[in-house]
Amino acid sequence: MKILALFGSPKLKGNTNQILEMITEDFKDNIEYKRINLSKLKINHCMGCNKCNVGDFECVYKDDMNYVNKSIEEADLVILATPIYFNSMTSIMKVMIDRCQRFFNMKVNNNIAFKEKKGIVIATAGSRNSKSFEALENISKYFFLSINAKVVKRLFIDSMDDKGIDENDYKNIQDMKNLLYTLYKDE
Ligand SMILES: Cc1cc2nc3c(=O)[nH]c(=O)nc-3n(C[C@H](O)[C@H](O)[C@H](O)COP(=O)(O)O)c2cc1C
Repeated sequence: MKILALFGSPKLKGNTNQILEMITEDFKDNIEYKRINLSKLKINHCMGCNKCNVGDFECVYKDDMNYVNKSIEEADLVILATPIYFNSMTSIMKVMIDRCQRFFNMKVNNNIAFKEKKGIVIATAGSRNSKSFEALENISKYFFLSINAKVVKRLFIDSMDDKGIDENDYKNIQDMKNLLYTLYKDE
């Protein structure tokens, strides 16, 4: 089972990295696990030309999104990991998601079947606010729909800037880690 983590924080050693690393530590040297640090890639903003709705659904831009597209196509499980910025995912991640319009066009507009996947969402927020993760949950729902993935679990950790990771978070992280391993083993 190929696991792809799409990492949307600009901080490679920050809170979200810490959580993602804990969850994926069993896969560190596994060639079936790939992590893409989106902040290191050059991905142009979608300009809405809709050229990815004709022909072979290729984007007019030839940039690092080609690598992300290929990685998504090959994956069996996709993890989105992002900090919350202004009650949403980071713009780094959103730019990548907007460029997934080609997947939306393939699947939703043209009914083209491609590899079924599973999806996981991981996010950290600095403060405690019941609405912090709403936008992420909504946007990621459509992202996963577009890439033909069924969301199996979400892990949202708030108050990171006040308390860091507490006992309850450790338990939830462990649960997510166990689930990932079970999915991997069962595939
Ligand atoms: C530009 C910016 C916007 C942020 N907006 C929010 C926010 O809306 N709500 C919140 O709870 N925390 C917010 N935070 C705090 C981060 O979500 C939090 O510190 C997160 O754990 C950082 O993860 P990282 O270390 O992986 O970047 C913001 C931080 C930055 C830098």
